[in-house]
Amino acid sequence: MSDTVPVPARVREGSVSPIQDLNDWRRAWLQARNDPDGFWLEQARALRWRRLPSEGLVGGYDTVREGPFSWFHDGILNVTESCVDRHAEATPDKVAILWEGDAPGEVRRITYAELSAMVNRCANALARLGLKKGERAILYMGMVPEAAVAMLACARLGAVHSVVFGGFSAEALRDRVRDCGAELVITQDEGRRGGRSVPLKAVTDAALEGEHGVKKVLVFRRTGAKVGWTAHRDVWWHEVVDAASPEHEAVACGAEDPLFILYTSGSTGRPKGLVHTCGGYLTYASYTHRVVFDLRPDDVYACLADVGWITGHSYIVYGPLANGATTLMFESTPLYPDAGRYWDVVERHKVTIFYTAPTAIRALAAQGDDFVTRHDRSSLRVLGTVGEPINPDAWRWYFDVVGEGRCNIVDTWWQTETGGILIAPIAPATPTRPGSATLPLPGVRPQLLDPDGRELRGPSQGLLCIAEPWPGQARTVWGDHARYVATYYAMFPGRYFTGDGCLRDADGYHWITGRVDDVLNVSGHRMGTAEFESALVGIEEIAEAAVVGYPHPVKGQGVFAWLVLQEGEECSQALLQRCQTTLRVRIGAHARVDRFQVVPGLPKTRSGKVMRRILRKLAEGRGDELGDVSTLADAEVVSAILSAISGDSCE
Ligand code: PRX
Repeated sequence: MSDTVPVPARVREGSVSPIQDLNDWRRAWLQARNDPDGFWLEQARALRWRRLPSEGLVGGYDTVREGPFSWFHDGILNVTESCVDRHAEATPDKVAILWEGDAPGEVRRITYAELSAMVNRCANALARLGLKKGERAILYMGMVPEAAVAMLACARLGAVHSVVFGGFSAEALRDRVRDCGAELVITQDEGRRGGRSVPLKAVTDAALEGEHGVKKVLVFRRTGAKVGWTAHRDVWWHEVVDAASPEHEAVACGAEDPLFILYTSGSTGRPKGLVHTCGGYLTYASYTHRVVFDLRPDDVYACLADVGWITGHSYIVYGPLANGATTLMFESTPLYPDAGRYWDVVERHKVTIFYTAPTAIRALAAQGDDFVTRHDRSSLRVLGTVGEPINPDAWRWYFDVVGEGRCNIVDTWWQTETGGILIAPIAPATPTRPGSATLPLPGVRPQLLDPDGRELRGPSQGLLCIAEPWPGQARTVWGDHARYVATYYAMFPGRYFTGDGCLRDADGYHWITGRVDDVLNVSGHRMGTAEFESALVGIEEIAEAAVVGYPHPVKGQGVFAWLVLQEGEECSQALLQRCQTTLRVRIGAHARVDRFQVVPGLPKTRSGKVMRRILRKLAEGRGDELGDVSTLADAEVVSAILSAISGDSCE
């Protein structure tokens, strides 16, 4: 095909990857398909185990109703021995975490030997604060190395961490603390981002007001700002962690013991806590990180995500550290102090692998090429993207301008639920196509289904499912296995339903078309329309609200809120402002509506279900393509909405 981009020579040069071309990929894929247990047991050997597992998968999608399937269930390990100890022994002076602070050039280099001491000290301190195996700790932190240290210290004790993104509000934080029954919260005085302070401790205090389950709050001092203090509960990191011993005997864990819980939004209800395991998750994070990016010993690897999201877990902390890599942690934003910041980081640290999100690529492309070209990017070899579909224009800019045609682009498709990358190019092996996540990794069996559950063969477009479990897959929803089953396995029994639509071309390349459920993906942030709606209808003047996404040139999706006001109420700027404030308080700063429209009613089916399809079309300005509206309870409502749109929208 004419739009196929061959792997640039520089990407192949010096590669020692077992997958060098599409023949190798096919062989590995078939090997995994024919003997998944053998394939994954072999990959698991890349970790350090106390007892090697002898079995792969037990159970499966057919039995998921009865309980979670497992991988490597008789294996025993502590993940920190794979991520830290063995590298502290073999390569003590290698930089493990390369930290670039908010201010350009504010750098910390933490070697594996130093990381080992930090993790052990922190584990000892957490144990003294009472944290035990199986108990939960919430982390509410910015992008400081101590966030990774805290994650690993929990893991060292066999405790379960749940990182909450630092942009979430006090209410959202409280919900998560309650849902997982956290014993302990780890936070910092303030975060720093884009030259501004983020009041992490103050938000933690607000979240924990009246909460008695949390016994201790461990506070890392980042800025030195004055913060509120609750005696007997709050403890300074520098007082207890720095004073603790740098020796610590890791707690032995079963492969299937939970490593962490990560909350994510679905199409209904409250966010759910997906549970990832020690053995399977780490095997998968490590394997995919090594293979997709073609990791080499001297690489300087930079993933520009936040540890609050799954990308930060798998591809800043666990995957890279398991592989003994140098992983960069970046505290700032791509636009601070200007749009050249990423490339300044690449130049100063000689980054070889760079992994970011399409929204950042689009935002930077819009600022012009000068910000990029004034910096030396000759160290770059692999450019990754994740989080949302990348449009071909942004892909091209990334390839041509950032990578100067020398780097392969790996468009990696995956989800919080999947633990790691499922569909992506393998850097030295896969010719790419702008906008396509290309081919499934070995061990991954995607299928496209029609809405009736029939499998589509050959080139087709349908609902993306996965036919078999893989080790990195989330096993359950914390405290609610029935919800896990209902969300992912009810629609197509015997398969995992991803919630995404996908097109497969004649060469088997996959093109993700986006969510087919009511999940929004705004600037790579995953949010449920239900969360927006329940916050909006909590406002006194609002009778009904329906939220849909619409294409947005930079954010990927924008948020469009349709509001029906209570009888006698009028729209005002003050009301819309209150909507934004309410969303900030209930969800977080990243939950903002881009466009409001007040309408006399919402289009509904006879059974009272809001017809989002119609609202989506209207939000896209395609009111003339509404299609069949015969199932509407009240067909008049559409013409009333259309005249409201052409009238005063009160934006
Ligand atoms: O719709 C897909 C989109 O992001 C969703 C998963 O979001 P989250 O769980 O927050 O994880 C994001 C980071 C892995 C998916 O259902 N998505 C993710 N990566 C891609 C993507 N859509 C298209 N192309 C991608 N590369």
